[in-house]
Amino acid sequence: MIERYVYGNPIETEAILTKPQKQDGESNLITHTFVKNTYKDMYGNDKVEEKEGFKYTLSENDIVYGLGQQIRGINKRGWKYKNYNSDQPLQIESQESLYGAHNFVLVSGKKHIGFFFDYPTAITFDIGYTDMDEMYIYPDDFNLEMYVITGESDISVVKEFRALIGKSYIPPKWAFGYAQSRWGYRTSDDVREVARKHRENHIPLDAINLDLDYLDNYKDFTTNPEKFPDFKELVQEMKDMHIHLVPIIDAGVKEEEGYDIFEEGKEKGYFVKDKDGKDFRLGVWPGYCRFPDMLNEEAGAWFADKYKFLTDMGIDGFWNDMNEPAIFYSDKGIKKMYEDIDSYKDISLDATTFFELKSKVNSVSNSDDDYKAFYHNYKGSNIRHDKVHNLFGYNMTKAAALGFKRNVPNKNILLYSRSSYVGMHRYSGIWQGDNNSWWSHILQNVKMSANLNMVGFLYNGADLGGFGANVTEDLLIRWLSFGLFMPLMRNHSAFDCRGQEVYRYKNMDMMASLIRLRYRLIPYIYEKFVSSVNNDDMLVAPLGFLYPDDEIARHTEDEVVFGYDFIIAPVYEQNAPGRNVYLPEDVTMIRFRNAEIVEKTEYKKGTYFVFMPLGDVCIFVRKGHAVKLCECTEWVTD
Ligand code: GLC
Repeated sequence: MIERYVYGNPIETEAILTKPQKQDGESNLITHTFVKNTYKDMYGNDKVEEKEGFKYTLSENDIVYGLGQQIRGINKRGWKYKNYNSDQPLQIESQESLYGAHNFVLVSGKKHIGFFFDYPTAITFDIGYTDMDEMYIYPDDFNLEMYVITGESDISVVKEFRALIGKSYIPPKWAFGYAQSRWGYRTSDDVREVARKHRENHIPLDAINLDLDYLDNYKDFTTNPEKFPDFKELVQEMKDMHIHLVPIIDAGVKEEEGYDIFEEGKEKGYFVKDKDGKDFRLGVWPGYCRFPDMLNEEAGAWFADKYKFLTDMGIDGFWNDMNEPAIFYSDKGIKKMYEDIDSYKDISLDATTFFELKSKVNSVSNSDDDYKAFYHNYKGSNIRHDKVHNLFGYNMTKAAALGFKRNVPNKNILLYSRSSYVGMHRYSGIWQGDNNSWWSHILQNVKMSANLNMVGFLYNGADLGGFGANVTEDLLIRWLSFGLFMPLMRNHSAFDCRGQEVYRYKNMDMMASLIRLRYRLIPYIYEKFVSSVNNDDMLVAPLGFLYPDDEIARHTEDEVVFGYDFIIAPVYEQNAPGRNVYLPEDVTMIRFRNAEIVEKTEYKKGTYFVFMPLGDVCIFVRKGHAVKLCECTEWVTD
């Protein structure tokens, strides 16, 4: 059952397709009241303020699922999360915000209740942080819609919620193939080499991502005339090798006289404006930029039509980036920073003032002041950005998807975005942002995938091997062993890190076998993906969803169920020869090695230490369920 409550004058987000009749009065399942926001002021003093919000008292045994792309557990209890889309390359436990705002939580215990807060800017979920047994949820201001969903089980609540928000995006089948990416394929010959090495070594591959390197001076919808002089031929050559090039598109349009997109956007008034009606100037990778007003339908459609430059050359996949939107600096911010720094010149620094001074530079990026300094023309109203912050990446991506329908109507184009809001899942997937080559981030990948499925982002994946920091060979092997089950299977890394292409390593054959296993599973994974979308099911689910009466299963955070068919229990500890696996029912363990089944063993319900040497992949198949294996191909065929 779904109840909808409306408070104040909410801004429309289009997260919900068909809204149920609004309810009068208040829900008796959650309390609308003043709650406590506890925080430290700049001097480290504990502060408490009262915020209008909602309070839900948790029973000892309740689990709180949800929040999609967020840090920490599958069970979100024990932390304070703030959904305010952020360019956050440091995905550590102490963060509060990442790239997406997925304001759905599911309390699972004796009752099963889902709460969705449709609200386009900062909203805090204090889930047992201030008081271990209380969940406090409070938005920045009290203009929002709240949906309360009750059901017989976690799965039924999620199904109802997913029916409310509409069917998830289904990418083309080739998007389930392996993708190799790196910020740092600097020339078209670098790209050719990646393609050649994969094909020569029979490492299956369907896509190579192009990061900023392919652009002419970071300008969207250009190609670098010196380093990628033969871009069109490159696209064709790759196509002949059955490889799709997937270029990046950033939200910021470079400020450069004579650059057609900059000139056109300026002339048509499509860029976001400051309070005086002047184009807002900000800096990202290209240096000074403008943001197209992605929330203005006309401006968004104009920007989306520009993808045609690439689709006309045969490109059929994109990743939208920096669309939280990330702001490295603004004119105003830089001016203020210099003034602030200047004021320290004549004082004799002590530790406190030194650290204050140091922070002046860092606080220039993604600042509240900047997010309050520009405006959107959204649905006919002039709205300050910070009021609709979480809708920017969503609308950029939605506009792109609608643009593809107009401009390339007969092709299913691959699209995934870094920033998102619920609703965007109907138009594209996401990747999990800038993680690191850390063992803990394999586990983060596992947990985030389960929560992302609840909010409709079925097409997702983490940067396999890790984006930042230097990878080690064993980490890459273990991460691929899990990543081969994720819909988006992309190996991506930053330019200043150790190369991560599997052919660079001694155990290339082992890694190639893991990718081959993926290809043997693609028909099954694709079919499952499509049926999960069509039935509003979870492709990747927490164990508790299937075994709600089993307390161990409910609290297992390092195993997930795939397609309701089998349990995946990845190894995420360095030098571990295997791991403890909890099996909530009798299963058949299937062990893969070299992309073949080498062992089938029956296991009774219980906990076992299962040896999994590097390169072995074990899955635990439920009774009455099956996994189909096909012949391996080196690219996805229909
Ligand atoms: C951002 C993206 C990352 C990309 C980099 C350069 O950090 O998240 O994936 O490689 O920008 O474009």
